[in-house]
Amino acid sequence: MIGGYLLFASTLLLGSLVSGQAQNAQSCVNSYDQNTDYFPQKFDTSKDSAQLFTIEYHNNYKVLTDTTNNNQKYVLVQCGTPAPAISGFPNGTEVYQVPITNAAVLSTTVVPYLEVLGVAETTKFVSGGDWITSGCFQKYLAGSSAPAEISVTNTTLSTQQLSQVQVQFGYSPGAADPVANTSVASAESFENTVLGRSSWIGYYAAFYNLESLATTALQQMTTNYDNLRKAASGYKTKPVVAWTIYDAPDQYNGNLATWQIKTGGYREQLTTDAGATIYTGSALNFTKAEDLLAAIKNVDILIDETYIATNLTDVLSNYQIKDLAQYKFAKAIYREDGLLTKSGGYDWFGTPLAMADALLEDMINVVNPSAPTSSYKRTWFRSVTNNDAIHYVSTDDCTWDETKPRPSLAVAFNGNAFAEPSSSSTGASSAAAPSLASAGIVTLLASTLVAVILL
Ligand SMILES: *[C@@H]1O[C@H](CO)[C@@H](O)[C@H](O)[C@H]1NC(C)=O
Ligand SMILES: *[C@@H]1O[C@H](CO)[C@@H](O)[C@H](O)[C@H]1NC(C)=O
Ligand SMILES: *[C@@H]1O[C@H](CO)[C@@H](O)[C@H](O)[C@H]1NC(C)=O
Ligand SMILES: *[C@@H]1O[C@H](CO)[C@@H](O)[C@H](O)[C@H]1NC(C)=O
Ligand SMILES: *[C@@H]1O[C@H](CO)[C@@H](O)[C@H](O)[C@H]1NC(C)=O
Repeated sequence: MIGGYLLFASTLLLGSLVSGQAQNAQSCVNSYDQNTDYFPQKFDTSKDSAQLFTIEYHNNYKVLTDTTNNNQKYVLVQCGTPAPAISGFPNGTEVYQVPITNAAVLSTTVVPYLEVLGVAETTKFVSGGDWITSGCFQKYLAGSSAPAEISVTNTTLSTQQLSQVQVQFGYSPGAADPVANTSVASAESFENTVLGRSSWIGYYAAFYNLESLATTALQQMTTNYDNLRKAASGYKTKPVVAWTIYDAPDQYNGNLATWQIKTGGYREQLTTDAGATIYTGSALNFTKAEDLLAAIKNVDILIDETYIATNLTDVLSNYQIKDLAQYKFAKAIYREDGLLTKSGGYDWFGTPLAMADALLEDMINVVNPSAPTSSYKRTWFRSVTNNDAIHYVSTDDCTWDETKPRPSLAVAFNGNAFAEPSSSSTGASSAAAPSLASAGIVTLLASTLVAVILL
């Protein structure tokens, strides 16, 4: 009822409901009225999964708070309306006129969010364009209205360049900031959950008055994520997945090679939601490969997060694995480098953050190669044991209109529970790991018994 009244009021005020609302959101206001809600579209940060930012709405401005960064506040003022008194905000608060039409992108992570919102081409300057793993952004970079690369050698020039934009997205707090009051930090990669990372769509949307689009995209993603998660939740035997990384000796680590097992955070949630169990041992850091290998010998799947490794030979060498057949994961070693730029930029650090459900599909397929469908093609997780090729992004991969919201990579899933993963697809043959194979049978028997008792 109240909503109806407000809509009616703004119809009277602006003449036409449809064009009036579109004008509110996307262009500057000509005649300011303090009683008009200029942000009928809202992103409700009390309902999303992100923990690290909030948005508070007022009639003609909104206050965005990045809680990782000393509660840094950004006041986003509808352009053509007066900014609130800055004295009412903490020191360091920055003020922006929205919607943004002119941006610089300092971190590749930002691009997928701008693409999902359909505003990637508001980017007029970019840092590290070669590392952006989007076919359509690559096409934009090759076109006649391409954003310029921000100079890294000439600070006079980079200051001139950055003075031309309204906002620099992807600034790292603590980095040099030649143009004050235009640097907006991003913290999506610090979120602990898969959907929390994707919820940062709302953060970027606030700068473009596109909260309605962000809310709908996130709702669809969340529904799809939940449907996929449920379908993968019933495996009787949950494969065990270890996420590991090799750090080669160099000047930064005292020339000491180390190996690490990664646990917790989004990795654990992603593993669990894909129907598996993450490996967590008492020791997680190793200075001898043999100690790591002894710990993970019986995991079903290994995800190698080492930054550089091209093929199985490299992986075996990094982990000093001599006889692969001794390990239960012998046929199931994956890396996150399925999609790279020619200069080696990982899509892994970008698109999967903005597309939680697509990421879960990929992980579900790692855990169970027959799901979500038997013909599913992974984007990010690359099987090195199957010698899968790395896909290097090119403008040929541009399959959407970069000036429109980028469609999700995920397919909407409405199906039933996935069939049990076949043990041959994840682990090695039972001969290679007799003790674990029999442990598996015990688990199976136990769950059969539980099923019988429940019946
Ligand atoms: C406000 O912050 C700036 C740097 O962000 C600092 O130079 C200045 O001293 C601060 N002022 C107050 C009153 O804290
Ligand atoms: C740095 O950029 C400024 C502004 O474009 C230019 O005038 C100057 O010549 C450049 N300096 C060098 C060393 O290239
Ligand atoms: C940054 O913005 C604040 C608040 O609007 C203002 O007080 C300050 O002078 C600005 N700093 C610069 C360098 O423009
Ligand atoms: C393992 O090493 C990492 C990086 O060196 C460190 O941040 C972490 O605290 C260590 N974890 C344990 C359990 O020692
Ligand atoms: C594996 O990749 C490395 C480069 O990382 C290359 O030197 C080597 O020839 C490759 N080995 C095989 C078997 O393809």
